[in-house]
Amino acid sequence: MLKRIRLFSKIHGWQIDLHERQLLKIQTAIIIRKYSLCTNTDTRTLSILGNSYIRDPTTNITPKIIEKIGKNLHCIHNHPLNLITRRIENYFNDNYRNSWRAPMFSKFDRINPVVTLKQNFDSLLVSRDHPSRALSESYYLNSEYMLRAHTSAHQSDLIKQGLDAFLVVGDVYRRDTVDASHYPVFHQMEGVRLFSKQELFSHLGDTSRVTFFEEGKRDATKQERHTIDTSLFIEEDLKKTLRNLANHLFGEDVEMQWVDAYFPFTHPSWELEIKYQGEWLEVLGCGIVEQELLSSAGADSRVGWAFGLGLERLAMRLFSIPDIRLFWSEDQRFLDQFNVDDPNTNITFKPFSKQSPCVNDVSFWVPEAFSENDFYDIVRNIGGDLVENVELFDNFVHPKTQKTSNAYHITYRHMERSLTQEEVNEIHENIISTAVQELGIQVR
Ligand code: PHE
Repeated sequence: MLKRIRLFSKIHGWQIDLHERQLLKIQTAIIIRKYSLCTNTDTRTLSILGNSYIRDPTTNITPKIIEKIGKNLHCIHNHPLNLITRRIENYFNDNYRNSWRAPMFSKFDRINPVVTLKQNFDSLLVSRDHPSRALSESYYLNSEYMLRAHTSAHQSDLIKQGLDAFLVVGDVYRRDTVDASHYPVFHQMEGVRLFSKQELFSHLGDTSRVTFFEEGKRDATKQERHTIDTSLFIEEDLKKTLRNLANHLFGEDVEMQWVDAYFPFTHPSWELEIKYQGEWLEVLGCGIVEQELLSSAGADSRVGWAFGLGLERLAMRLFSIPDIRLFWSEDQRFLDQFNVDDPNTNITFKPFSKQSPCVNDVSFWVPEAFSENDFYDIVRNIGGDLVENVELFDNFVHPKTQKTSNAYHITYRHMERSLTQEEVNEIHENIISTAVQELGIQVR
């Protein structure tokens, strides 16, 4: 016989009889709920890749982002990001060998994306008040740890370990706009090459007549410790390496141009743009490594270059992939198209029937402390990959109240199936009510 147990509520005045087994089920459900509260968003700690981090007022990482950590798309055999990574690695292995004929560049593709603010910023000479440190730009676990915003976060550590030439491939995280070429998680490859005086000037034969370091002045072409020869030789080697890489990936005919740029950890710095569908597309940032960075990493007797390239951008161009969300697709109609043994196989992505989009609008009065990226994160958190694009199409300040109004078109489209208007409306309403609650926007 099963025992019957009587439960009653003094406050609400009800009473029910339950079998023992029913009671057990309820108790289990309560325990599971409590447990999930402990490990999830509501409590004081975050658990990421087996480590715990204590939340604090800087914590702004969202569950949708946490889901992506550890997926390592670049390591999945036959994923387009893996194919492009292998093509680039092959270029470096085939063209750069050390004196024992072994590949010169060491490769790292599994470094934990959780880094300290010190690694992501301080080690790279990013000043305390640099705008890239703002909470609206990156995902913070707490005031000490964040998700790396670029693979440059590992430069200093690897140089400290004594490496002279290395490639780092990994997922990087940035709070950003929502459209076909921006996603809060993307992948970069970092490349660093250091030279001794002998190595840099090797093709001169006699290096005794050139000077490597000086105590001079910084100008547009060089750092204070570098002679003009040193700076020009590094620039020449860097640009040759990257030009040849672009030709290796896109063929001899690809049009490219160098644009002057600024990064706190390199000087001078450039971006490389390649022509894609009639427009210039920025694919990488690079420059001559700041000597101060090398000194702090114990490599002051060397000089060097670094670059960081965006793998999605290159893969979209190479395989004609129209939307960055597709990289996260688990649809076989996508993945099967990249299922090849030879990474150099020519592949042009054939879109499977494109579903039609639903566009819903929202306009609201913006609260005083408002960052657009907070709104984009809510859209991403609730709409997930159904949101293709968020476009600010109207923005004005009310002449009397001085309040700002923003109006957005939100485009919803499923990559694999059609969406109903009701389904979209429910998500859209949910986005709006969450933005009202969490950001204090006022719908107009
Ligand atoms: N880390 C830079 C970025 O993400 C790119 C970069 C890497 C620039 C190395 C210079 C040197 O934009």
